[in-house]
Amino acid sequence: MSADKRGMHGIWGNRWTFILAATGSAVGLGNIWKFPYMAGENGGGAFVLMYLLCILSVGIPVMMAEVLLGRKGRMSPINTMREMTNKENAPHAFRGIGWMGAVAGFFILSFYSVIAGWTLAYVGKMASGEFSSATAAVTGDVFGQLLGDPWMLTGLHTIFILMTGAVIARGVKHGLENSVRILMPLLFVMLVLLLGYSMTTPGFSQGWSFLFNFQTAALTSDALVSALGHSFFTLSLGMGAIMAYGAYMPANASLGKTILAVGVLDTLVALTAGLVIFPIVFSYGLEPDSGPGLLFQTLPIAFGNMPGGAMIGTLFFLLVLIAAWSSAISIAEPAVAWAVERGWGRLRSTIIVCGFAWLLGLGTVMSFSDWSGKQIFVTETVSHAVNAELVAEEEAATEAEVVSTKFHWYADVNELKAAAAEGFVVKTEGKTFFNVLDFLTTNLMMPLGGLLIAIFVGWFMTRESVAAEARVKSPVLFNLWRFMVRYISPVAIFFIFIEGLA
Ligand code: PFF
Ligand code: NA
Repeated sequence: MSADKRGMHGIWGNRWTFILAATGSAVGLGNIWKFPYMAGENGGGAFVLMYLLCILSVGIPVMMAEVLLGRKGRMSPINTMREMTNKENAPHAFRGIGWMGAVAGFFILSFYSVIAGWTLAYVGKMASGEFSSATAAVTGDVFGQLLGDPWMLTGLHTIFILMTGAVIARGVKHGLENSVRILMPLLFVMLVLLLGYSMTTPGFSQGWSFLFNFQTAALTSDALVSALGHSFFTLSLGMGAIMAYGAYMPANASLGKTILAVGVLDTLVALTAGLVIFPIVFSYGLEPDSGPGLLFQTLPIAFGNMPGGAMIGTLFFLLVLIAAWSSAISIAEPAVAWAVERGWGRLRSTIIVCGFAWLLGLGTVMSFSDWSGKQIFVTETVSHAVNAELVAEEEAATEAEVVSTKFHWYADVNELKAAAAEGFVVKTEGKTFFNVLDFLTTNLMMPLGGLLIAIFVGWFMTRESVAAEARVKSPVLFNLWRFMVRYISPVAIFFIFIEGLA
C-alpha cells in the first residue's frame, strides 16, 4: 500500500494550479451563505474579530501543516496518515485524521448540496424576474415557500450531487481549472459591484459598524467556538480536503506564500459578502440573526431594485453555484481518493460516496420543512406573555420573568409551543437534523482534525523533515510558522474546546 499508489491521482502543472484549486475549495457557500448569517447570529463585530484571529492563529498555520502532510504522502488522507504514522513512529490515533475526514466529508457534502440546491433555485427565480421591485416581505415569502417544498428541494439537491459526481468521476484535475481561473475572479468582481450598490443604501454605515465594531458582551464562548469552527469550515480544513489537494501539489513549490494567498482570498470574499448583505439587512428592516435564509432574503431585494437586476442577479447566483460546486468536489475527494486506492475504480467510488451523501441529504431537506420541529438538546423556556418581548431582547429578561426552563434530549418544539398555557409564551432552543450535522462537522470534527494535524506536524515530525517539505525560504518565517503549529494553534484549539464544553 505505498509506492505504487503515490501520485496515482496525478500532479498539477504548477503552483498556480494548486492555488486555483485550493481557492476553489475554500471559496464557496461558507463565505457567501454561511459567514454572513453566522456573524448575524453571533453578535456581528465580536464574531468577525474572533473569526479573523482564528484564521490567523490557527487556520493559516494548520492549513500549511495539512498541505505539507498531503504533499509528503501523495495519497488519499487515509493512506497518507497511515504511511506518515509508520514513518514517524507516531501513535495510530493520528490515523484518525484520515478516517474522521472521510466521514466528515459525507456529512458536509450531504447538507452542502442541499444549500447549493437553494442557490440553483434562485438562479431560476432571478431569471424569471420574480423579484422585480421586491420588498423584504416578498423575499421572505418566496424563501419560505421554497423551504416548504421538500420535493423541489430534493430535486435540486439531486441535480447538484449529479453535477458534483460528474466532475469527481473524471478526476479532479479536469473541469476544475477553467471554472476556477475564470469564474472565481468574476464572482469577486460581482461582489465588489454589489458592494458599490450597498454603499448607496441608507443602511451602509450601520452594516459596516455591525460587522466591524463590537461590544465586549458579545465575546461569548459560544461565539468563539462558532468562530473557530467556521475558520476551519471556510478554509476547508481539518478533514483532509486540503490534504488531498496537497497531494497533487508540485514538490518544489513553497508552501508559505501559496497558502497565505488562499487564506487572504477566502477572507476577502467573506468580508465583502458581509459588507454587501448587512447594509441591505438594515436598510430594509430585516433581522441580522435570521439564520440560514439571510443571503436568500437580502440580495434579491437589491437585485429587484436595481437597473438590470434580473440579469445581474441571475449571473450572481450562477457564480455562487459554481463556487459551491468547486468546493463540493473537494469535500468528497478524501473519501473518493481512498476508495480509488482500494481499487474500486473512480466511477464506482464516486457513485458510492455521492449516493450516500445524497441519501443523508434528505434529512437536511426535511429539517427545513416537515422535520423543522423535531430537535434534540432542546431547552424550553416558559415566560409570561407580557414579558415575552423583553425575553426576546435577551439581556432585558431577568430570571424573574422566566417562569421555568426545562431540558429535553428530544422534543417536537412545535408541540411544546402549541402546548403553551394561556398567558404564557414558550421559547425553545435546540438542534435540527441539519444543525446536528453542521455542529458535529464544523464545531467538533474539523477542529479536532486540525488539532491532531498541528500536533503531528509540530511534535512528531522532525524539524528537518518539516523544513525540507515546506520549502519556506525565509528562516524567520519558517520558525514563526513552526512555533505557531507547535504551540499557538494546538493550545488555542484545545482551550476553545474546553470553553465550549463548559
Ligand atoms: N470551504 C468551503 C466553503 O467555505 O464553502 C466548504 C468546505 C469545502 C468545507 C471543503 C470542507 C471541505 F472539505
Ligand atoms: Na470558504
